[in-house]
Amino acid sequence: MNSAELDRRAREILAANDRGGYTVPNGRVYPFQWNWDSAFVALGFDRFDRERAWTEIETLFKAQWEDGFLPHIVFWKDDPGYFPGPSVWDTGRQPVTSGITQPPVAASVVRRLWESATKAGESEKWRPRLEALFDRLMAWHRWFRDFRDPEGRGVVVAMHPWETGRDNSPEWDAPGEPIDVSRVGEYTRRDTGHIDSKMRPTKLEYDRYVALVQYGRAQGWDHGRIAAGNPFRVADVGMSMILLRANRDLLALAELLGRDSEADELRAMVGTAERGIAWLWDEAKQSWCSRDLLTRRSSGFVTSASFLSFYAGLADPEKDKAMLTHLERIGAAVRFLMPSLDPHDPGFQMIRYWRGPVWAVVNYMIGTGLEEAGHESWAQRVRGDTRTLIARNGFYEAFSPIEGTGSGGGDFSWTAAIWLAWAGL
Ligand code: GLC
Repeated sequence: MNSAELDRRAREILAANDRGGYTVPNGRVYPFQWNWDSAFVALGFDRFDRERAWTEIETLFKAQWEDGFLPHIVFWKDDPGYFPGPSVWDTGRQPVTSGITQPPVAASVVRRLWESATKAGESEKWRPRLEALFDRLMAWHRWFRDFRDPEGRGVVVAMHPWETGRDNSPEWDAPGEPIDVSRVGEYTRRDTGHIDSKMRPTKLEYDRYVALVQYGRAQGWDHGRIAAGNPFRVADVGMSMILLRANRDLLALAELLGRDSEADELRAMVGTAERGIAWLWDEAKQSWCSRDLLTRRSSGFVTSASFLSFYAGLADPEKDKAMLTHLERIGAAVRFLMPSLDPHDPGFQMIRYWRGPVWAVVNYMIGTGLEEAGHESWAQRVRGDTRTLIARNGFYEAFSPIEGTGSGGGDFSWTAAIWLAWAGL
């Protein structure tokens, strides 16, 4: 397929996964609205339908709770093809939602939507919608500060592996050990009915996911109680970098809208993160890594999330140099950047979800960060690899960094969106 055909195919995928106001990541495996998927999807829609792009984010925020929390899944309609469904979460909300969140990429996306509208000379038309979304985003970012950073370090502490968006990253193995799975009970997974189980998380990982959902439910999804007692509390390097970036983008919007007090608040959040995030630097590994809040131990894993430091705008020459050394080493070991786990790690598995495969959305953030930091040739490699992976293999959920073949579901919305907004340009 040539570029124009791939563009058409990407739009067809978004249209097919559109459920009217929101887009499912994939009709079979993920039949609801997912938080960060929708944000990326909006970037794709923005290439051909601005109205639909804004609506995607606005629909997501309709499910925001009064404390600012924005759920990782919104169950607008039930669907038997997914576990755990709405009755397992039992958050007692209308619409029914999950009780955990996901990486906060939305503010950065909204800033891009706004810039694109401005370029088209339509800023006046979209300004009221920007104002409304700004308040929603601000409330969500405050929620992160209040409920996901119990020690006020300027990092994001994930309460569930799903919250990080990198479900089965080996970073969660050691912190997951204290989770008691003995009372999880019987359940039937749906994911392995759709996808080869070699590409999916293991039974033990799933037991832990379910046990944490049961824990949250037992706390009545009270975010304060969960933050104080959850058996899994990990400062996720991915979410921490993403929130720092998102706070900078939200700050730019606050300044533009003349929201002075919010701008002050955001400056404080950015400052805390810029100072505190050094806690996630692993001196022995010379890399950014997640850290277990309960044991204080660094994961010691170099993952794709480690490279989001550029996207976060952390211009630290020495640490950047160390990360570029990792990039060179990893770039020589795989055909396609950026594997979700260091290919030299003994646990690397080229098709198992977040233990090896390349994800287009992560590449978009890494490539954007590298470009902004002036590492032009690395940025081009990451973008070129993403383009080749999609053009040769299709719009898969993820790809093998060695062979390039698709992993997980096909016709994935966010892969199509990243093609339209970035990789295919
Ligand atoms: C998986 C991914 C997560 C994504 C979701 C829907 O759970 O790990 O990042 O949001 O699928 O695509």
